[in-house]
Order: sequence, then C-alpha cells, then structure tokens
Amino acid sequence: MMFRNVLCLAFGLLAMSGTPALAAHEALPPHEPSVGWPQAGIFGTYDRTALRRGFQVYKEVCSACHSLKLLSYRDLADLGFGAPEIKAIAADSQVTDGPDDNGDMYQRPAYAADHFVPPFANDKAARAANGGGLPPDLSLIIKARHGHENYVYSLLTGFDLTPPEGETVANGMNYNPYFPGHQIAMPPPLHDDAVTYADGTKANVGQEARDVVQFLSWAAEPKMEIRKRTGLKVLLFLFVFAGVMYGVKRQIWKDIH
Ligand code: HEC
Repeated sequence: MMFRNVLCLAFGLLAMSGTPALAAHEALPPHEPSVGWPQAGIFGTYDRTALRRGFQVYKEVCSACHSLKLLSYRDLADLGFGAPEIKAIAADSQVTDGPDDNGDMYQRPAYAADHFVPPFANDKAARAANGGGLPPDLSLIIKARHGHENYVYSLLTGFDLTPPEGETVANGMNYNPYFPGHQIAMPPPLHDDAVTYADGTKANVGQEARDVVQFLSWAAEPKMEIRKRTGLKVLLFLFVFAGVMYGVKRQIWKDIH
C-alpha cells in the first residue's frame, strides 16, 4: 500500500514537471485556414480543383526534397487528369529498369503505372543534401501527425514568426514553433507566387499551403469518399432493417400476452 502511494506520488510529480512545456506548446494559436477543410466530416468530399492546384505545389516545390512513394502516376486520374496528361507527367521522371538482355540495368521514362519517383536515391543522399535532416515521405504524413491537416498547414505557414527571447536556433536550422523542438531542418518551402496557378488563383503562402495540404490529404486516403458513402449506405440499411425486424417481432408475438 505504502509502495503504491510512493509510486503515485512519484508519477504525479513527474507528470507535473512535464506540464509547463506541454501547456506552452498548446497555448500556441493554431494556424488554421479561415474556411474549414472541404474533406472534413462524414459528408466531406475533396475539392478536385484544389487538389489539382495542390499537386502543382507538390510537383514544383515539395518534390525537390520529399518522395510520395505510395502514389502512382495513374492515381492522378482521380484529380481529373486525362491519360495523355498523366503519361506526360510520368515521362518527366526517369526510373531504373532492367536487367536488359545483356544483364544491365537501364534508365527509362516513368510510365503511368510507376510509383512517383523519389528525388533521392536513398536516405543518406537525402540527408547529405539537407544538412543532415531527412525529408520524410509525404504519402501518409497527414495521417501520421497529431493535428493532421491543421498541423501540416500550421507548419507550412509558421515560418514567419521570430523566436521568443531565450530561444536560440542552431546554424542551418529554421525556427518554426509548430515543429516539436521548434527547430526544423526544412527551409521555408513556400513564398508568395512560388507557383503560377493555371486556373488564375492568386498564389500566396496561405493558398499554396491550403492546396498542398488538401492534395496530401487525398494522397493519404484516395478512397475516402467511397468509404464515407459506403458507411452511410450501411447505416441507412441498418436503420431500415431495424424497422422491418421490429415489424416482424410484432407480427410473431401479437397473439401472446
Ligand atoms: C529543400 C528541401 C525541402 C523542400 C523543398 C520541402 N521540404 Fe519539407 N522537409 C525537409 C526536411 C529536411 C525535413 C526534415 C526536417 C527535420 O527533421 O528537421 C522536412 C520535413 C517536412 C515535414 C515533416 C515535419 C514533421 O512533423 O516531421 C513536412 C510535413 C514537410 N516537410 C512538408 C513539406 C511540404 C508540404 C513541402 C512543399 C510545400 C516541403 N516540405 C518542401 C526539406 C524540404
């Protein structure tokens, strides 16, 4: 009994000593887009126009450092790209194939069925090019981080803040209060007019971040809309079925009282 009390006290103290840092982190105003995410909620669907803009941001900015290995070029058909466009997008990247009849590996343009070609041959090359930091694969990043869309959006738009007094930023690192530890090896990737949108939308940092986050959200779960639709159909069926079963029960038991 005594031992348990001591243990409780020790854990209590430990938890309390951890509290201030946590509170400081949580007190941070979350950077959120003023309009919510169209894909949120049980009826939420992706905004295909935003996804196409987001793909442009990924392709022209993020893909210099980040892979998106779980996606194939042909998956882009879901965003409204036609087969010839997808073929052309894929052909921009080279993949190693083979062996050929001589047993040699060779390079060829990627096909629609190939997965997105990563920017670096391996993690060591990626670290060497990024001051020791490893740009993670973005295929599932929206699902892999607490805060999901809002976290990545905050991270991308949170570079403009200056570190508070007493916080120093190491050489080659960048201050970002949304990143655990507040120092990130990623330089601010977005700036106004980093891309020129084909649909004429003004490309400021907030818009680019919102679009690329929606694209990454789709990349992490391209079948989300089918999942939600199926779920609603199942619920509707169960509801009707419950009514029918209630009628059956009344019919069977009607003579017994
Ligand atoms: C110049 C290279 C570079 C570019 C361009 C770049 N990143 Fe990064 N990114 C990095 C590096 C390096 C890290 C790892 C940071 C670390 O661990 O300190 C990173 C980390 C991240 C993380 C993970 C943060 C976490 O919680 O672990 C996300 C999300 C991210 N980048 C998104 C993006 C998006 C979206 C874009 C395009 C708009 C982009 N990055 C463009 C280099 C880059």
